Amino acid sequence: MKSVASAPGKVILFGEHFVVYGLKAILGSIDRRVTVTSIKTDNKDIIVKSSLGEVNMPSSGKYDQVKGSFRPFTFIAKKMIDKFQYDGGLEIIIDSNIPSGVGLGSSSACCVAAAGSISRLFSDFSRDEILNLAMEAERTIFREASGADSTVSVFGGIIEYDKETGYNKIESSSNFYLVIANSKQTHSTSKVVSKVKHFKEENEKVFSELCENESKLIETAHKAIKENDLVVIGKCMSENQKYLEQIGVSNEKLESMIKIAKETSYGAKLTGAGGGGCIISLTDEANLEKTLKKLQEKNYECFSARIDFQGLDTF
Ligand code: PMV
Repeated sequence: MKSVASAPGKVILFGEHFVVYGLKAILGSIDRRVTVTSIKTDNKDIIVKSSLGEVNMPSSGKYDQVKGSFRPFTFIAKKMIDKFQYDGGLEIIIDSNIPSGVGLGSSSACCVAAAGSISRLFSDFSRDEILNLAMEAERTIFREASGADSTVSVFGGIIEYDKETGYNKIESSSNFYLVIANSKQTHSTSKVVSKVKHFKEENEKVFSELCENESKLIETAHKAIKENDLVVIGKCMSENQKYLEQIGVSNEKLESMIKIAKETSYGAKLTGAGGGGCIISLTDEANLEKTLKKLQEKNYECFSARIDFQGLDTF
């Protein structure tokens, strides 16, 4: 018996870091996906295969006896095995076309696709149940995960998210293209989050002013996304970048990519935790190729992406 599921990665369009302090963030899922194939086998092993390697553990073992990055998969597998008192084995194969460790939500997409794929070998779970399972799995490697990445990966489209009220879908028939450029500097989200915490403690007044500005910016951006007003969305992105620079999460490489991208696009900013990772810039059909070309001329790895409206998909 075989079950296949795929789930998209994401970009944070607005509000990273400030979301940690209760503000809203706006996220969009992108058309880059992780596919997970799960198979029930006759032996009594859980086998997980990905481009990072392979782990093998007995179905009766503990999920955390495998190395870190494989734990979300063994966690989901064990949860299902125990819930359905299954005494066979499972093989789980992960195939991703989302660059990892650079803020594009690859680990959340892996958790969502794995939760969708493995759970379907046993029963039909709702999207909300799959989301909960994916979030639990993600917290085995990143305890502080807000759940926003997994949420947008399950439902697709563009969402507004805050810690207290959760997510809200933003209805938009957005027809923009994003250019995503990868600094190839991997980052540790938790380290950058701690750096911001320190900044906040040392600069309470500046930080609270920035929060006020960010809040207003998110309102403007939300409205512009609904109206598909690329000029305003782009301006908001570039303005958001300034706030991120002020809290110390940008760097020289990101800023040089942003400068190039801004010449031909509506606006650009880093996306995700910063300190490396990726930048996004907003384009349409008219300036997409130009923006890609400008970045490629400077040897930056970049690609175009669109908003994915499908979210989790099962086959
Ligand atoms: O780079 P990412 O995708 O891990 O983004 C982190 C976003 C933060 O706001 C910095 C942290 C968070 O949990 O929301």
